[in-house]
Amino acid sequence: MRKCILAALVLGLTAVGQGIAEPSDAALHEYEQALELTPDIDNGRKVYRICAVCHTPEGWGLESGAYPQVAGQLSTVLIKQLADIRARNRDNPTMRPFTSPRLLGSAQEIADVAAYIEQLPMTPRNGIGPGLDLETGKRLYKDNCTECHGENGEGDLDDHIPAIYGQHYRYLLRQFEWIRMERRRNADKKMVRQIHAFTYRDIHAVLDYVSRIRPPEEKLAAQGWRNPDFPKFTRPLNMHSGAGYSIDQRPGGPNRPR
Ligand code: HEC
Ligand code: HEC
Repeated sequence: MRKCILAALVLGLTAVGQGIAEPSDAALHEYEQALELTPDIDNGRKVYRICAVCHTPEGWGLESGAYPQVAGQLSTVLIKQLADIRARNRDNPTMRPFTSPRLLGSAQEIADVAAYIEQLPMTPRNGIGPGLDLETGKRLYKDNCTECHGENGEGDLDDHIPAIYGQHYRYLLRQFEWIRMERRRNADKKMVRQIHAFTYRDIHAVLDYVSRIRPPEEKLAAQGWRNPDFPKFTRPLNMHSGAGYSIDQRPGGPNRPR
């Protein structure tokens, strides 16, 4: 027994010595672990019950952008974000308690819930921008984003680059701004450099354009679709609009409406 404790202590110490305690290392470790596992979608459906409270049973989040749409997102992206949030490599105080091992489980449950979410059809009615400057938005997108997020915002499975098409405009705005201000710690360094000089007008134009890129028809839910895995979930009539509710905590500054 004593030997075990000693061994655990020594292991613990070397782990710290090697920097495994760093949030980014812990997240990377869990990401790699989850990728190795074979996902169980049925278990993922069960795990998703705790997520449905905020992300809605459909996985569509809210048009207000308070909760992002997760449905249809690439599995590698979902796994990486979950591992990052759990390890505090991406701040998300609202959601983090729900990613504890007690509630969410291990790397296996992360793989399972990611596989479940990835196959959910996406909302045909995401929150979009005002549509004032779409030509500029399109040009900015082609010049600055396609290289990583793809021609149509479809992302990249192998490089865990998020699909951004069909995402709620106000969620896109919040994340973009946090990435640009280096407030989102797991941000891609190259993206931060790429968007460094974007003006208030550029940011709104490019994300308005992105919010309007329609995902391929086969990824979209039919009008009025409700997730049959959650027959008993009480859905208010305007559930996905998110009207009157916002966790938008963007600081004052360049992207506050003038
Ligand atoms: C209490 C509400 C809440 C619960 C429960 C919750 N989330 Fe979240 N989730 C959020 C919020 C809020 C954000 C966006 C935070 C931000 O703006 O940075 C988010 C973001 C995410 C993201 C990042 C999306 C992206 O595009 O970057 C993923 C993935 C995610 N949640 C998956 C899950 C899963 C899977 C569960 C269940 C295990 C879950 N969430 C439970 C509130 C919640
Ligand atoms: C060099 C590659 C690269 C370029 C260029 C790039 N991005 Fe990204 N972007 C990424 C990666 C990688 C992430 C995810 C980082 C992470 O959390 O691991 C990301 C994340 C995002 C997010 C957050 C998505 C979410 O679901 O939370 C948005 C929004 C975004 N990018 C928009 C853009 C736009 C718009 C452009 C062009 C103006 C752009 N990006 C250019 C690589 C890039």
